[in-house]
Amino acid sequence: MIKKLLGALALMMTCTVTLAAGGGYPLDKAPDRVNDLASLQNGAKLFVNYCLNCHSAASMRYNKLTEIGLTDQQIKESLLFTGTKTGDLMVGSISVQDGKKWFGVPPPDLSVIARAKSQGGGVTGSDYIYTYLRTFFRDTSRPTGWDNLAFPTAAMPHVLWQRQGPREMTAEVIHPVAAEGKTGHPEGEHGSFEKATTKYDAMGFATTTTEALKDYRGHGSSTYTFKALDPLRSAAYDNDVADLTSFLAWVSEPFQLKRKQIGVWVMLFLGLFLVVAMRLNHSFWKHVK
Ligand code: HEC
Repeated sequence: MIKKLLGALALMMTCTVTLAAGGGYPLDKAPDRVNDLASLQNGAKLFVNYCLNCHSAASMRYNKLTEIGLTDQQIKESLLFTGTKTGDLMVGSISVQDGKKWFGVPPPDLSVIARAKSQGGGVTGSDYIYTYLRTFFRDTSRPTGWDNLAFPTAAMPHVLWQRQGPREMTAEVIHPVAAEGKTGHPEGEHGSFEKATTKYDAMGFATTTTEALKDYRGHGSSTYTFKALDPLRSAAYDNDVADLTSFLAWVSEPFQLKRKQIGVWVMLFLGLFLVVAMRLNHSFWKHVK
């Protein structure tokens, strides 16, 4: 029974994405938890513990985290490391020069990353961050040992890999091949197609098999499938990443919580005013026939 359940869960945890040749990786919709204080607090904790080593969020001070419901005491106890004060800016521990030296590119400041990565057309920066943090796969051929689908050849390693657990990734790429050595009639305008399947195992070793597609008349495409080997851990990870993403969305615009609260009061006021105005209107015109 348990095995069956786990099997079903494992099936759910394999996710497949297909895209047409040339297109960027399609982004998943990030759950919006910016109004959920418990999520923001969890996101803040993850951010301080896992991201602040390399990145900063220099437009944010620790004591501003009281706005997401943390007390000064909690900030001191669970988020500050020795030497940091609650009034300090959230700056990382490595300098831009060191970042450049170690990674080739300095880790960007994440203060406004959620706004900077917005792509328009309803695709938010949060969608990008949420997808980015969930599409790392092990690849021993990369200097960091990792690659990423949303940001191919990213210089950042998958720092949360232990929380996500082991995964496999299979890439199926259908691409046209030059009809080489053919002397007979050419195979139509597009030539013939080939399917290359590359499987990255949980340790990042890749095996590729190719297969000629004889009568294929479609287009080139790429399909990516992740398989979580520890589905429960992977599901908990998705939940954490949603919190972390919401925290970064809040950091990029901390005023949004207040703005929304003010918005509610304004709508209430307008509603009340409408009632008053209608009654006034009614009584003004009562005697006019
Ligand atoms: C070991 C250092 C390191 C840690 C820890 C780290 N990052 Fe990064 N991060 C980098 C580097 C380096 C880059 C620049 C990548 C590049 O441009 O190739 C980067 C880039 C990024 C980007 C921008 C991606 C883009 O498309 O430009 C985001 C978002 C990001 N990191 C989020 C995070 C989050 C969230 C965490 C915490 C879970 C984190 N990083 C932890 C090193 C790190």
